[in-house]
Amino acid sequence: MYKIAVLPGDGTGPEVVREGLKVLEAVSAKTGLKFDFTHFDFGGDRYLATGEVLPDSAVEDMKQFDSIYLGAIGHPDVKPGVLEKGILLALRFALDQYINLRPVKLYPNVETPLRGKGPEHIDFVAVRENTEDLYCGMGGFAHKGTKDEVAVQSSMYTRMGVERALRYAFEYAKNNRSPRPWKGLKQEDVDKGITGQLTLVGKTNVLTYVYDLWERAFHEIGEADYPEIKRQYNHVDACCMWFVKSPEWYDVIVTGNMFGDIITDLGAMIQGGMGIAAGGNINPEGVSMFEPIGGSAPKYTGMNVINPLAAICAAQMMLSVLGEQRAADIVENAVVAALESGKIKSMSVGKIGLSTSEIGDLVAQNVADA
Ligand code: IPM
Ligand code: MN
Repeated sequence: MYKIAVLPGDGTGPEVVREGLKVLEAVSAKTGLKFDFTHFDFGGDRYLATGEVLPDSAVEDMKQFDSIYLGAIGHPDVKPGVLEKGILLALRFALDQYINLRPVKLYPNVETPLRGKGPEHIDFVAVRENTEDLYCGMGGFAHKGTKDEVAVQSSMYTRMGVERALRYAFEYAKNNRSPRPWKGLKQEDVDKGITGQLTLVGKTNVLTYVYDLWERAFHEIGEADYPEIKRQYNHVDACCMWFVKSPEWYDVIVTGNMFGDIITDLGAMIQGGMGIAAGGNINPEGVSMFEPIGGSAPKYTGMNVINPLAAICAAQMMLSVLGEQRAADIVENAVVAALESGKIKSMSVGKIGLSTSEIGDLVAQNVADA
């Protein structure tokens, strides 16, 4: 029995979460896995009604669950930052979800804006550090509101924070990727026993402290403990270029929080858009939280037009991280079958061909038929 905290959140979050839960119920019927869902109403509406962003008890409450399933946070009537910092980032930090795992995988029948690229080219995973960097909010103002105003916001990294993210990424490259000849693999690598590739994305030419720390730790850990993983390095700006030009060069990527935030939106676009992109905020020793990465899309609320596949893929990641890989594979195959049916016309809102709930029904039916 898995105890799951469900945080549907704002805007279209509840609609897509409903479809994800539908698919999990189908998984339960199929596999015998049991889920116990408890809903929480954290989000913009609750904040506007009560003035409270996250109740004091929330973090302790969340620790009682095996996992958290999140819809979206963000409300048009609330100043940007209040809910994002007060709920999403607060939970990531308080639960020490130090990994943000974002697969970038182009499924069949999904259109990518990259001409000439297909599923065989776009299949990598970004491991984004999720608790440090500019996100710590270190800094402040001096002389605020005067002509002499100063604003400082510092990126900060600890050796511990860097090291645990790197180790997670190396382990992921070693254990969680089926061997595949990503484009950079050469015969001499195979002869050397290389089985996977990890690319550190940084900015060692400018951020000579923070990414120097990353780079040293990367090579020290890789050399000592992961000889079978080939180490590559890209500056973040070049990485954006390669995402568009040659995504087939990537297998697993590891990077800091800020760069990871930016490049994974680009990654989401090349895998077909926000309608399909999922992420996991992972504490490998604690409680993790899974979400579609697209946001709350408030203007589409209640219209049954948002693609729930991202939320369904988030549920799939949740199963995988819970150790239920067979169930996760059933969901992934069901998503692929739904896409292969040709009934889903596009990943973009307004053009998906079916309604939100019909896509959920289709995937749930495929799970039942698996
Ligand atoms: C994301 C989002 C968040 C982030 C925002 C909403 C705080 O963009 O999950 O990528 O920057 O991490
Ligand atoms: Mn983001």
